[in-house]
Formats: sequence, structure tokens, C-alpha cells
Amino acid sequence: MTRNYTDCFASIHALTESETDTIANMATMACELFHRMDGFDWVGFYRDVGQETLKIGPYQGGHGCLTIPFSRGVCGAAATGRKTVIVPDVDKFEGHIACASSTRSEIVLPVLGPDGTLIGVLDIDSDTPDAFGQSDADALEHILARVFSRPT
Ligand code: SME
Repeated sequence: MTRNYTDCFASIHALTESETDTIANMATMACELFHRMDGFDWVGFYRDVGQETLKIGPYQGGHGCLTIPFSRGVCGAAATGRKTVIVPDVDKFEGHIACASSTRSEIVLPVLGPDGTLIGVLDIDSDTPDAFGQSDADALEHILARVFSRPT
């Protein structure tokens, strides 16, 4: 499945281009991605709060778990490796943390600040199996860099 992010990204850019507050930008991006993109059934950020721990940030969808150590889950793997993790089948990902029994596939991307430090991760769950591919990773990495890695 190849998604068209053009309108979604144009909206995110217009809404965030003059905003420097990270939480405000996270909330805006989660809202736009959740409401505009097909197959995005949970969209949210987990923030790096130190001690190799992620705490939930702005999200859309059902309740997400509040705390994730870097040693656990898809989010922990993306935070540890600072690389995008695509999971075609969550049942085959050892240590997957299931916040919803309906989740079938997932993509988690690191969020880096202007100086390259890890701010957190963007987690997107889908109820559709194998919902995410490299084109999604490329597009989402681009918009994350445009919003969170730009000089402030
Ligand atoms: N599935 C994630 C946990 C977050 S809930 O999906 C919102 C993981 O395995 O890290």
C-alpha cells in the first residue's frame, strides 16, 4: 500500500511551522496523522525522559501504556537503535507490547532534536496486517525531521 502524504504533510507544516513548543507540535502531528491517514489506528509519541525510559506523550486512539523502558517493545527497540522499526506482524515481534488486541502491524520512528539528541519516538499502530513499508518510513522520517530537527 503506497500512501499519499501530500495533504497531510502540508497541513502539519502549516500548523507547526511557527511553533517551537515540542509538545504542541507532537499533539498537532498525532492529530493530523490519525485523522487523515488510512490504516493509522493509533498514533502517538513516547518521550525520552532519561534513565533509558520512555513516557507517553500526545496521542490519538485508545489508551496507550504510560511507561516503556528502552529494553522493551517496538518503541524501546526504536529508541535504543535510533532507527525506524517496521513490524509487519506484531505477533512475530518478540517482546511486543500490546496496548490494543486489535493491533496487527506497527511502525515506530525515532524523533531527533536539532542537535541530534533523541527526543522520543513516534508510534503508529494499524489493525491491518503489514500496513507499513519503506515508503511510509521515508515519508514519516522526512516530516519528523522537518518539524523536530529544524533549528529553532
Ligand atoms: N506497541 C508498542 C507499545 C505502545 S502501544 O502500542 C500504544 C511497543 O511494543 O513498544
